[in-house]
Amino acid sequence: MQVIRTIAELRPALEDRREISLVPTMGNLHAGHLSLVRIARERGGTVVASVFVNRLQFAPHEDFAHYPRTLEHDCELLAAGGCDIVFVPTEQEIYPEAQSFTVQAPADLADVLEGQVRPGFFTGVCTVVLKLFNIVRPAAAVFGKKDYQQLLVIRKMVRQLALPIDVLAADIIRDAGGLALSSRNGYLNDSQRAEAAQLHAALRALAEKVRSGRTDWPRLEAQAVEFLSARGWQPDYVAIRGRAGLEAPIPGAALVALGAARLGATRLIDNVEV
Ligand code: PAJ
Repeated sequence: MQVIRTIAELRPALEDRREISLVPTMGNLHAGHLSLVRIARERGGTVVASVFVNRLQFAPHEDFAHYPRTLEHDCELLAAGGCDIVFVPTEQEIYPEAQSFTVQAPADLADVLEGQVRPGFFTGVCTVVLKLFNIVRPAAAVFGKKDYQQLLVIRKMVRQLALPIDVLAADIIRDAGGLALSSRNGYLNDSQRAEAAQLHAALRALAEKVRSGRTDWPRLEAQAVEFLSARGWQPDYVAIRGRAGLEAPIPGAALVALGAARLGATRLIDNVEV
């Protein structure tokens, strides 16, 4: 596996490569990220992973400075997972000048849920992902359903900007207790770690009620929020939405239950398809 740090070195390394599949990450890799690499691997061709903690998608009060950076271990995992090239640009490489051109995702999709709690987040994500697409020029890119809204935003960007890229979705990888793997799980202390699976439990219970035919969605959402609050969480939202575009639910549509909540200082997100 090659570790490449600059665009100038990456371009020639990719020149003769067959179909490229890209797995964008912010590093501190775990089995969730590696499942994306596996999906990329299954396409054949060249697998490129990127590791870049993207300042543009963090608000000033968020954890950019503390975000875990574990490049050596990441490279070991990627090499073992069958990645061909890992692109690890510096901030100077991606943002040599102030990034004043940005990609504005549509408000109906990007200013709700995560985007409402984290204004500007999807602008930061779309801008860096479009840059990575332009740098790597992949035929396919893999994103996890763990970040369900991000996946939908990227799909829409690719569609509306006519990018010649297949966006592939990877299922959520969880630990034995149901907690979705996340780099931010490392912030949890032992007792929080034991509690953390309750976010998934709440969403699963909610999805089950919806599946059984209940349509009193606001009430079910409120109950899930109360359940988490009573256990010491600070929920940002629990929402039942359409899977296609996070639209308001209608009976019979494919739905997803999404949630975000803080446990102490750690913010976790998860979702369960109904
Ligand atoms: P990061 O949080 O590192 O996640 C990289 C990719 O891994 C995302 O597509 C995410 O959905 C996926 N992923 C994370 N945990 C997962 C899990 N438990 N199961 C399945 N997939 C999982 O998402 C980002 O980075 C950034 O926003 C990025 C797209 C790289 C842009 O900076």
